[in-house]
Amino acid sequence: MGLVLVTVVFLVAAVCGQEPPGRVPEPRRIDSADNGLADTELILAFVVFRHGDRTPDQEELALYPSEQKLGDDLFFPYGKKALTNKGKQRSYFVGKYLRELYDGFISRLYLPDEITIRTTDYARTQMTALTALSALYPPPPAQKWNPNLDWQPIPYNTPPYEEDDLLYWYNCPRYIWLRDKMYEKPEVKKWIEPYQGLFSLLSEKTGTNITKTEDVFYLDNLFQTLNNVGVAAPQWAQEVMPKIKDVTKIEYAIELYNAELIKLAAGVLMQSIVNITHSAVHNTSVPLEPKLYLFSAHENNVAALMAAARVYEAHQPNYGSTFSLELRKNTVTKEYGIAAVYARDAGGPGEILPINGCGAQLVCPYETFCSLVQDVIWSKEEMDKQCKNLTQL
Ligand SMILES: *[C@@H]1O[C@H](CO)[C@@H](O)[C@H](O)[C@H]1NC(C)=O
Ligand SMILES: *[C@@H]1O[C@H](CO)[C@@H](O)[C@H](O)[C@H]1NC(C)=O
Ligand SMILES: *[C@@H]1O[C@H](CO)[C@@H](O)[C@H](O)[C@H]1NC(C)=O
Ligand SMILES: *[C@@H]1O[C@H](CO)[C@@H](O)[C@H](O)[C@H]1NC(C)=O
Repeated sequence: MGLVLVTVVFLVAAVCGQEPPGRVPEPRRIDSADNGLADTELILAFVVFRHGDRTPDQEELALYPSEQKLGDDLFFPYGKKALTNKGKQRSYFVGKYLRELYDGFISRLYLPDEITIRTTDYARTQMTALTALSALYPPPPAQKWNPNLDWQPIPYNTPPYEEDDLLYWYNCPRYIWLRDKMYEKPEVKKWIEPYQGLFSLLSEKTGTNITKTEDVFYLDNLFQTLNNVGVAAPQWAQEVMPKIKDVTKIEYAIELYNAELIKLAAGVLMQSIVNITHSAVHNTSVPLEPKLYLFSAHENNVAALMAAARVYEAHQPNYGSTFSLELRKNTVTKEYGIAAVYARDAGGPGEILPINGCGAQLVCPYETFCSLVQDVIWSKEEMDKQCKNLTQL
């Protein structure tokens, strides 16, 4: 199998200069010269990235061991569930990565027709978008409006929280209902069984009720987000951290266990990608505007779109991880295809992931891709209707 093709070129600043304490190291860069896509022209790109490092939210804090209550001033000046400075640094690397990957495909000038940006209705995904955009579009002379500021305003759109298909875990009851049914499956129970001792230990130590892999996953998130503000996990948690991470991975496998879960999680987004690419492939009179679609969202959205595109292996996507689906045209055969590029870490490097069902080809023939994703796409109307269905499997 022509596995992942990564071409890492050079390590920037990180190894040379001394980083300020707690600073995110500068990422390595993708090599765009010899990455297997050499004979193809990029036509359209759809990119989902996870926000940067954040502080915990109230639900996560409720899991914190009761004897060690944390003061709210711990999160000053950010507040809860908010992007930290490290999170901003990582978001900035997302923008630099996108500039490197798509330089020439999009202009260095901010041309409003070329790009569209959507965020979820969270301060942290909006701030991540703004920070990434500041790295993607430092103003060239024609757009420099303040000689002392290397920044220009770039707009984004945010659909209302309640109507956002990307926030399926919040506004699609069937998704949660169906996910919970997965815990009852014999093979899933078998994965979880070895961790019953861990559940008991965590319940005892936290004084809460840890019974599901989801509970452990929230606890894992809590420890990560506290770590983001300099609070280390308690000793007892550090001792079982590898097991906690195993369970988080299991939870991720459960969340996207079958086609219906994947469809509920990413089906509307994938259908819009198929619709837009379809017009580009079949109707050359349709203008290719915009050609770059950015989605500043959450780890679940990165994972769900990867699952829908058949390149997902269960894991929790990192802060600033970035997943692109690209419509490409072969310059020799003139055939269209889809490539999947994943940067596991904010800023890259990106890897091209072979799409399951397309053999080892790095660019999956377009019609093959469309037929492979048929069972995980639907319209927003279909999704909204099925989200209320809590009666039948
Ligand atoms: C934990 O959950 C179980 C099952 O739902 C319930 O019977 C028990 O009372 C709960 N314990 C606490 C401490 O909430
Ligand atoms: C895709 O196109 C179909 C047919 O035109 C339409 O019904 C559907 O709403 C579109 N879906 C999205 C997500 O844009
Ligand atoms: C192609 O797109 C144009 C402009 O949107 C539209 O008027 C035309 O009907 C389309 N043709 C086909 C074959 O879909
Ligand atoms: C609920 O979902 C099941 C499984 O997809 C389907 O067979 C059934 O028709 C749906 N019920 C309603 C009322 O839409």
